[in-house]
Amino acid sequence: LLIGMPEMRQSSLVVVANRLPIDDSAAPDGACEWRRSPGGLGSALHPLLRHTPAAWVGWAGGTGPAPRLPDIDGVRMHTVPLSPEDLRDHYEGFANATLWPLYHDAVEQPEHHRRWWEAYQRVNRRFAEATAEVTEPGAVVWVQDYHLQLVPGLLRDLRPDLRIGFFLHVPFPPPELFMQLPRRAELLRGMLGADLIGFQRAQAAHNFAQLVAKVLELPATDRRIDVGDRAVRVGAFPVSIDTAEMAALAARPDVAARARRLRQDLGDPDRVILSVDRMDYTKGIEQRLKAYRELLAGGHVKVPHTVLVQVAVPSRERVGQYQILRDRVEHQVGRINGEFGRVGEPAIHYLTQPFDRAELAALYRIADVMAVTPLRDGMNLVAKEYVAARVDDTGALLLSEFAGAAAELPQAYQVNPHDLEGLKQGLLAALRADPTDAMRRMRAMRAHLRDNDIRAWARSYLSALDDGDSLLTRLTTA
Ligand code: ADP
Ligand code: F6P
Repeated sequence: LLIGMPEMRQSSLVVVANRLPIDDSAAPDGACEWRRSPGGLGSALHPLLRHTPAAWVGWAGGTGPAPRLPDIDGVRMHTVPLSPEDLRDHYEGFANATLWPLYHDAVEQPEHHRRWWEAYQRVNRRFAEATAEVTEPGAVVWVQDYHLQLVPGLLRDLRPDLRIGFFLHVPFPPPELFMQLPRRAELLRGMLGADLIGFQRAQAAHNFAQLVAKVLELPATDRRIDVGDRAVRVGAFPVSIDTAEMAALAARPDVAARARRLRQDLGDPDRVILSVDRMDYTKGIEQRLKAYRELLAGGHVKVPHTVLVQVAVPSRERVGQYQILRDRVEHQVGRINGEFGRVGEPAIHYLTQPFDRAELAALYRIADVMAVTPLRDGMNLVAKEYVAARVDDTGALLLSEFAGAAAELPQAYQVNPHDLEGLKQGLLAALRADPTDAMRRMRAMRAHLRDNDIRAWARSYLSALDDGDSLLTRLTTA
């Protein structure tokens, strides 16, 4: 994966994201080891940039001085350091305990602290300065996600020559929620430093335009906002995956063999239900487990004929709400296994480890039903990865209406995860799907994702940002 050390050169396409696509973690012998970090942003952008002359500005995980990283798959990595206070107040605080819950329908209570806002400004400034330094004159900079909403404005002040895009991977909330933010005007102004602001869904673009008109009193439509003599364009660009890569991986003989082995290890059940989430309260893990428990208690599903594999990789582990969630999920899993499992035959196979792509593909291959039931999700790439991995067109996707992916995958078995009865019925419908009907649905979803993959996303976003210059051509043909 790792090739050559970079020189401090400037780049003509620079992605700026809170996190680099890799993370440091301790190897079993205690040494530092780099691995791909679980999460939608890295999964989306990593395959896209591979072997292009781009640079990525981001945080490498941990605190202390920024490590000097080699190029990764040909992409130059520029690390931005975070101090322990930055980590606590910017990443864990303002980004993940103020904005994250607020942007996800306040399914957990957002907290507001002045110290967090100061850290948010400080870290955004550091990212803007680092980006200004490594970006060629007239280049394109693509700023990602809610951690860095002030960067477009700060960067425009430092480098008015740049073409700046901003893309929000998470939902953008309705005005009633956003208005709670004490520093709402500054956040909107920060985003408006971009030439193009992209959202996952048209509703988000609409919410943003309404807020800009209300809070900043600027002329705004869902497509264009006038800021002085500058036009800022706004639009929906649903993010996607490298569909062909996931399909090819799932079709590999070693992955097929691994899938057969996994199924055997599960006791050759008739039906395998799979969920793969970051351990996050937005993902609806507790609601899903409750639905599964009630189906077991009612005798509608039986162990060992049906089993659930729940992968829940811990995330943002020092944030209180995440610690509480993990305790509750583990309590629930223990309780369900205690009540409905037998020796060697658990009702839930619960895994908290990060897996490599081949292992994930093997898991997708054994899932007769993939249960993706977030309470709110910007897109949900796991749902798309599952569809891409079903190379024989079998399998059923149970999908929350509140995932961005639901708008693109109407053939999924869609459910409202807040409605426990509806969730149970949806799960049963997916488990008992008529194979011909299920295949028709899967084929339609696979066809959609073949045309609407990560390259199509980048093409549509970057051509809107950059009017299709050679940079885009290089990127999308790589
Ligand atoms: P989010 O961005 O909220 O984490 P997404 O579903 O959009 O949600 O993206 C999650 C990404 O992280 C997917 O690409 C998925 O394959 C990956 N992922 C999730 N769990 C794991 C895991 N246990 N090991 C490795 N990758 C994971
Ligand atoms: O899009 C949601 C997001 O915050 C991404 O930016 C990121 O890839 C993912 O969730 C994982 O989060 P974190 O970077 O906090 O581990």
